[in-house]
Amino acid sequence: MVYSIVPPQLFSVEDYEKSSVKHMDHTAWSYLVGGSADEITADKNKCAFDEIQLQTQVLRDFAGANTRLNLLGSTLPFPILLAPVAWHKLFHPDGELATVQAASAIGAGMVVSTQSSVLLEDVAENATKPLWFQLYIQPDRMFTAELVKRAEQAGYKALVLTIDAPISGVRNREQRVNFHLPQGISSVNLAGMKRPAVHNASLLESPLFSGQLESIPTWQDIEWLKSITSLPIIVKGITSVADVEQAITLGVNGLIVSNHGGRVLDTLPSTIELLPGIAEQVAGRVPILLDSGIRRGTDILKALALGASAVMIGRPYIYALSVAGAVGVVHLLNILRAELEAAMVLTGCRTLYEIDRSLLWKS
Ligand SMILES: Cc1cc2nc3c(=O)[nH]c(=O)nc-3n(C[C@H](O)[C@H](O)[C@H](O)COP(=O)(O)O)c2cc1C
Repeated sequence: MVYSIVPPQLFSVEDYEKSSVKHMDHTAWSYLVGGSADEITADKNKCAFDEIQLQTQVLRDFAGANTRLNLLGSTLPFPILLAPVAWHKLFHPDGELATVQAASAIGAGMVVSTQSSVLLEDVAENATKPLWFQLYIQPDRMFTAELVKRAEQAGYKALVLTIDAPISGVRNREQRVNFHLPQGISSVNLAGMKRPAVHNASLLESPLFSGQLESIPTWQDIEWLKSITSLPIIVKGITSVADVEQAITLGVNGLIVSNHGGRVLDTLPSTIELLPGIAEQVAGRVPILLDSGIRRGTDILKALALGASAVMIGRPYIYALSVAGAVGVVHLLNILRAELEAAMVLTGCRTLYEIDRSLLWKS
């Protein structure tokens, strides 16, 4: 039985986080846990869940209780997906192959990053459950179109278009440890891509505003993407109500409320604070997912109560990957799933579709 080889005394995401420090070098750890600048948003993502209190509903009948959901044509056994995270080989020698083995074994949705350290085709070949591909639009649109075609041909079922990181965040924690990719680990999907010429700005010029921004994605790229693929497009990185209408008008199939785990723009609000306003604007027209800061089953319950159909986790499953490979990821997902189930029972919800604001305590 797989669980017998999980290291003992790991009962929560936090336990895995503490243990994972011993399983990776300090620079990889700094890259993983860090947020941008003062990490205010990264911290807030977690704390904001603690501010929301629950209330119980007792003596309910739980016949037929389950955590199944339908999401964009797929049935998932529980509402927790693995968020796209770059370069899994930094954290485990088998990289994304270990992660996909875990996701397939437990039936979890997995989103494979453009910046995976294993070819997107090889990840797909090792999957027995549908995968989604996360797309960063590249400066070279022809190369981007080729990437989309490769994802289609490999059998990916949706594109997750990340829109919140057209430039890197101010990552002081990474700078302090001089983080760089070790030899043998790279964004293999992007091999052979022409990089834009670097413009050597003079001291008087801004490097960012003197050419670098010419090819960053705009809303028009969503129209373009729709013209080259029939895959559903889910936009990841919505943090503003104002952007919702634009995205829905362009015909996207889903939205992910995400601030990239607090890794891009510091002092953004936490995603759980943003969710109610965004859900109100969406008004059920497309499914909403949420990530950033999910560490407990009760966090998942709160996200669903405030309008999300499902959540994604980033750092938590990477902690588990580093500690115990595929087995660790399965174990961690089972921990969160069991916590969610317990929270559902204690708040009187038989299915995900019964989770609503009535289980949030109002003072
Ligand atoms: C180490 C690391 C690498 C990431 N790489 C990507 C990526 O390649 N593409 C992407 O869309 N998001 C990326 N993200 C953001 C995650 O998809 C997700 O939004 C975030 O981790 C959620 O917050 P959490 O870590 O608190 O769960 C990355 C996050 C981390 C921690």
